[in-house]
Amino acid sequence: MKKTFKLLLSSAAVMAALCGQSAQAADAAKPHVVILATGGTIAGTGATSTTTIGYTAAKLGVDKMIAAVPELSKVADVRGEQVAQIASESMTNEVWLKLAKRVNELLAQKDVDGVVITHGTDTIEETAYFLDLVVKSKKPVVVVGSMRPSTAISADGPINLYNAVILAGSKEAVGKGVLVSLNDQINAAREVTKTNTSTTDTFKTPELGFLGYMQDNKPHFYRMSTRKNTADTEFDVSKLNSLPRVDIVYGYANMDRVAMDADIAAGAQGIVQAGVGDGSIAAQMMPAIRDARKKGVIVVRSSRVGSGIVARNGEANDDQEDLVVSDTLNAQKARILLMLGLTKTHDTKELQRMFYTY
Ligand code: DGL
Repeated sequence: MKKTFKLLLSSAAVMAALCGQSAQAADAAKPHVVILATGGTIAGTGATSTTTIGYTAAKLGVDKMIAAVPELSKVADVRGEQVAQIASESMTNEVWLKLAKRVNELLAQKDVDGVVITHGTDTIEETAYFLDLVVKSKKPVVVVGSMRPSTAISADGPINLYNAVILAGSKEAVGKGVLVSLNDQINAAREVTKTNTSTTDTFKTPELGFLGYMQDNKPHFYRMSTRKNTADTEFDVSKLNSLPRVDIVYGYANMDRVAMDADIAAGAQGIVQAGVGDGSIAAQMMPAIRDARKKGVIVVRSSRVGSGIVARNGEANDDQEDLVVSDTLNAQKARILLMLGLTKTHDTKELQRMFYTY
């Protein structure tokens, strides 16, 4: 009797040890993901559960957002840091530089497999592209937001955050550049843009399409970006505390030079024109552009249209006027690449190479 009892005890102990080991093994297998919070609607709260506009963004701290999605702990070893707490229309170069430096510090650590950045959707595409150009790692970086506040019926924040953590911890996302993932879709930072003021399917990649889907707790990729990004870029912000001023001048019928002159007087080293059509420049704007070039201000022709290539010597004599074209980058993305380009050179041929590279 005693012998069987001892045998039972020892096998129970073995079972418990094995279960303990398997739980430890499962934990060890979970990716380590750090969530860097900056604010936005995903951290927003509304007066009632049906408030989906007119709520307050940037209210919940990162630990509260993580606690609101207990399923996160099943898919990754997650911890959070609060980098900022702002509505993203108020994003600044200072927050960008702080975020970029922290992302690079974390991704250099062996015990970090990926980073998620929670962010307001208004400028998510700009922050994502900025990071696409300055993150020095192939590890996944996923920028995520939501279109409904955390207090709303069918809030999209929790599922977007859950999917973003899975994506950031996945092997499939390694080497894909910075990703923007909401609404079960995966977009490349270079091309994604907000296309609707308030619906949950607002993020699109016009014409070129998104990279894949988040479905059934895993990423499904069907495309990759063809442009250099993250570990392959030439830009380094580790020692920068500011960025060159670059402004955007919106093109429209009957425009004049007042806005461009004011931007240059305020210290702009570069101007991106969100031109009509194929980045066309109004005849009455050419004197302002020639004056800008004489002052050494770089002028990039982009377009307000939203998709397609702005090609050299199409709607303007770029060679003769010594201008740069944005290729397929929209004006807000072209501004970011020009800001970083100007930290390295004012040579228009070198800058044009960058617009054909990234
Ligand atoms: N204020 C906007 C922002 O923080 C709200 C939009 C959102 O985050 O969905 O970008």
